[in-house]
Amino acid sequence: MILVTGATGMFGSRIANRLAEEGVPVRALVRDRAKAERLLAAEVDVAVGDMDDPATLPPALDGVGTVFLVSPMDEHVYTRERAVIDAAGAAGVRRIVKLHGCVRHDGDPLDELHQASIAALRASGLEWALVSPNSVMETSLLPHADAVRDSGELWACAGDGRVGFVAADDVARAAAAVLTSDGPSGKNYEITGPQALSMTDIAVCASAALGRPVAYHDVPEADFRALLVGMGLSPQEADFGVILHMRAWREGKAELVTGTFESLTGSEPTPVREWFDRYRQAFV
Ligand SMILES: NC(=O)c1ccc[n+]([C@@H]2O[C@H](COP(=O)([O-])OP(=O)(O)OC[C@H]3O[C@@H](n4cnc5c(N)ncnc54)[C@H](OP(=O)(O)O)[C@@H]3O)[C@@H](O)[C@H]2O)c1
Repeated sequence: MILVTGATGMFGSRIANRLAEEGVPVRALVRDRAKAERLLAAEVDVAVGDMDDPATLPPALDGVGTVFLVSPMDEHVYTRERAVIDAAGAAGVRRIVKLHGCVRHDGDPLDELHQASIAALRASGLEWALVSPNSVMETSLLPHADAVRDSGELWACAGDGRVGFVAADDVARAAAAVLTSDGPSGKNYEITGPQALSMTDIAVCASAALGRPVAYHDVPEADFRALLVGMGLSPQEADFGVILHMRAWREGKAELVTGTFESLTGSEPTPVREWFDRYRQAFV
């Protein structure tokens, strides 16, 4: 049995459903059963639990051999993941596959939390691996849908930085392959799209896919952060969710393109142009 945490989220829901589709016994750790029933296939077993309340974790881990560990991108990454690692060790879990990332955040606050989690995995004595996507198209591009639709504009503070954007479904497919095969403990699977593109390149792809002009406007980081806060994000949400990533993009720390998706799945990863075709409805 594989337990997927964060299973009503972007990665977790896709991974739980993908495993179920492949006929793999899978359980979802969720806070809200009704939400899980809306998002997850009927074959996914559902366990209600809260990573902020470690006492709720042992029943979810009963009979589990492997955990896919994902938690929200906020200041609690380490405490939540540490709670699951400790509970998994106590429950006799064999292996933990943790969602990390391959953008080089180099010691920024998000990186420090993920590194602390990885140190806890190393110290746990369990087998472990990392699935490390580059920036995901859904979280990086979909938030621009309204501005593209309303005015044909993309606003960001990414400069000319290029990013190996990857589709969320491709990450789920790669993660399912890692979860259902045995690799060496400690291996880091870096999952990217087929090419590294700047936001100017993204505007060109969007124009071609949507059949209308889309222009990229680069703004200074402080102005973009103020814009996000003005739209209702807390300063911390703006930093953890957007600013730290765009800074890394701008500094050339997200350019990585690997062949890992292809070696795990035998298929080519989704190009950005094809992704826009898939999500056309949101942008027009
Ligand atoms: N986006 C990217 O480009 C990217 C790339 C590489 C790595 N990452 C990493 O991806 C992770 C975020 O994954 P995601 O985008 O799938 O997150 P997400 O969509 O925000 O989903 C978070 C999930 O965690 C659940 N959750 C929240 N608090 C919980 C708690 N206390 N106990 C149990 N479950 C809880 C949420 O449940 P509810 O539905 O109940 O809220 C939801 O299912 C971060 O670690 C980030 O660093 C992201």
